[in-house]
Amino acid sequence: MSKIKKIGVLTSGGDAPGMNAAIRAVTRAGINNGFEVYGIRMGYQGMIEGDIFKMESQDVSGIIQKGGTFLQTARSIEFYELEGRKKAYEQLHKFGIGAVVVIGGDGSFTGANYMTQESDISVIGIPGTIDNDLFGTDYTIGYDTALNTVTDAVDKIRDTASSHNRIFFVEVMGREAGFVAINSGIACGAEVIMVPRKRNQVDKVRLFLKERAAKNRSSIIIVSEGLEEGGAMDIANIIKPEFPHFDIRVSILGHIQRGGSPSNKDRVVASIMGIAAVEAIMDSQKNIMIGWKNEQVAHVPLNKTIKMHKDVSDDLLKVAEEIGTFVPRK
Ligand code: F6P
Repeated sequence: MSKIKKIGVLTSGGDAPGMNAAIRAVTRAGINNGFEVYGIRMGYQGMIEGDIFKMESQDVSGIIQKGGTFLQTARSIEFYELEGRKKAYEQLHKFGIGAVVVIGGDGSFTGANYMTQESDISVIGIPGTIDNDLFGTDYTIGYDTALNTVTDAVDKIRDTASSHNRIFFVEVMGREAGFVAINSGIACGAEVIMVPRKRNQVDKVRLFLKERAAKNRSSIIIVSEGLEEGGAMDIANIIKPEFPHFDIRVSILGHIQRGGSPSNKDRVVASIMGIAAVEAIMDSQKNIMIGWKNEQVAHVPLNKTIKMHKDVSDDLLKVAEEIGTFVPRK
């Protein structure tokens, strides 16, 4: 049994729908198991500034259905410096906090990894990012909601694309990972999906569109934001001059992908992960991420989550191709 009596919880990096469900679960499971639970506002920045408050069960009432994060979040520059981190450790010691649950993505876990090396605080990570790009977990909180939002938006764009016979380049988020692009593209029946880290994609898309344009057909091209060749606007501008008789449009979905009420899956898995984080602290575990593998909780060493890389599987790319989508990749 752990000697820790006080647990801190924070959200860091980009907000993601479902983060509130995770905060709620950590708070309630923590209190139910005899811990005092402290909310840390604005991620690592709030830790540095001592923006820390004790939470009761009712403080997390009515938040499970809300997007964003009720603890708010930030990308703290100060925490990248040792001096800033020392201030944060002092604050945690002042409050008597022995373990911190960090809900965030790889940038947040890089910060968490510093904590594990430089302080006596136990750190438990919960993966929270719409990008789903963390190694060691099949799934990150917010990803499911984001996919549903993108699917809904592209379905609507499709109405206009087919009514007007237009070519639409739709840019989706996901940084250098193509998870949002490939899964939303499959679900929307996109004609083309462009995922990062594949070479000479623009040339291949140009050839593909030439054939379709000859038959006067509309197309949806899902463009992952992390392509080496640029964003949807750049790619459309390169291609446009060669299609003088086609109406080419660009739609950058942007932050609508991060907002909104979390899906059922995001709420449920976030709740399971929050409880698992508290259980890990009770078992004196530290410096791990609570992952989700084959529909079950998994414990992954925190340093592995930032050192190792997770890429879209070839199997998924093949699924897209088998059902008629062009994925420029060879
Ligand atoms: O990591 C989540 C994410 O939404 C990425 O998909 C995107 O590239 C980035 O954050 C945008 O960050 P910001 O809101 O700081 O512009």
